[in-house]
Amino acid sequence: MVVFSVKPVFSVLVVSLSLLFLLALLSPPSPFSQNSISGKPSLGEVDIWSVRRLVEWRPCNWWLQAHQTALPLETNGYIRVDCYGGLNQMRRDFCDGVGIARLLNATLVLPNGFADVYDVDYFVQHMNGFVKVIKELPPEIATKEPVLVDCSKRKGQFDYVESVLPSLLKHKYISITPAMSQRRDRYPLYAKAALCQACYKALRLTRSLEMKASQLLDAIPKPFLSLHLRFEPDMVAYSQCEYPGLSPASVKAIEAAQIDRKPWTGELARVWRQRGKCPLTPNETALILESLSISPTTNIYLAAGDGLMEIEGLTDTYTNIFTKSSLLSGEDFTNMHGNTKAALDYYVSINSDSYVATYFGNMDKMVAAMRAFNGLYKTLFLSRRGFAELTSQGLGGKELMQALWKVHRDDFAAGRGSALPECFCEFNL
Ligand SMILES: *[C@@H]1O[C@H](CO)[C@@H](O)[C@H](O)[C@H]1NC(C)=O
Ligand SMILES: *[C@@H]1O[C@H](CO)[C@@H](O)[C@H](O)[C@H]1NC(C)=O
Repeated sequence: MVVFSVKPVFSVLVVSLSLLFLLALLSPPSPFSQNSISGKPSLGEVDIWSVRRLVEWRPCNWWLQAHQTALPLETNGYIRVDCYGGLNQMRRDFCDGVGIARLLNATLVLPNGFADVYDVDYFVQHMNGFVKVIKELPPEIATKEPVLVDCSKRKGQFDYVESVLPSLLKHKYISITPAMSQRRDRYPLYAKAALCQACYKALRLTRSLEMKASQLLDAIPKPFLSLHLRFEPDMVAYSQCEYPGLSPASVKAIEAAQIDRKPWTGELARVWRQRGKCPLTPNETALILESLSISPTTNIYLAAGDGLMEIEGLTDTYTNIFTKSSLLSGEDFTNMHGNTKAALDYYVSINSDSYVATYFGNMDKMVAAMRAFNGLYKTLFLSRRGFAELTSQGLGGKELMQALWKVHRDDFAAGRGSALPECFCEFNL
């Protein structure tokens, strides 16, 4: 009898030991675990980027290897895509517009201002076979202004073939601003492929912008992290979030940026914050970066506009901070306008060793996509929601850091938070 009882105990022991071993093997290193597998625990080695990923986003094969559908011989007309807003919002709308032009078998007319930022010849060359593009209008319409078809505010089941094709056929030259939501699910593959090709392969900055941007890139000490911090007065005013404890200067700047939206207060403010609606402050950002074991000596390029508030909250901890105004010579820099400055941040951010975004805006989406396109996986969106939830539970100090690590580790491993557009597909690693 004794003989029989020993065996199960023994096997339970073996099984649990091997389970433990397996667990240790599988769990990604945490800055808080005492031993890493190599047996050399060292904070610098176990930052967020060393976490083993389960999923990676890559451009989908269906458009990379698109066997092209021949373009129709006859064009249905000319479409100019009108784009507004910041550089990356314009780019998003432009990419949409390329898909629409192909969907409608139209010829694409480049938007005003395109040539200020993007290389026209490069674009035309790389769109060959995907959509017809012209650099100059043919004589029969060159003197006309396009008929404006405004789709930008339409919502719901918006379909371009139903709604816009008749106007195109009638007027022959129209301009559109793409709708926020549309039936892209109805697009034939060749229209989607045109969109993807335009957005991720055919856009290159003009030679002179790219030269300036690569000068800037060269001037940043390597390796470096590009941090897109969004704590500017207009951003904060727009978010309608409450921030107790800001400096009087920041409070004044935010009030000046408020147009009609007043911040939520009391219970509403709490709920709003918990839903992840509030931009992270520089000191919250610093705290999260620390919890990810990103060393305080890391070189950080601040991809941000002018007027960041409360920046000491970051620079008190992270001292190796670089900005474009600190690295580019004065005259060069002051001659640049908003969109060309944004192009510099974009360029640096798609070439940095790592990219961290504190928000989920148009630039962040575009940069994340281009980094995925180029196989750069060290990209992370900080979780505003996670931060709000954990702090509202009263967590602080080491407990908070540990919980923040877990949230971001899981996001990073699962490729969450950086959900990329249709041109990208998830691959299990
Ligand atoms: C566009 O051309 C394709 C063939 O390339 C055709 O199948 C499709 O029906 C055309 N669409 C429109 C809206 O003209
Ligand atoms: C972060 O900054 C805010 C406002 O600037 C301040 O109220 C808060 O105490 C700071 N938190 C930390 C952890 O330094």
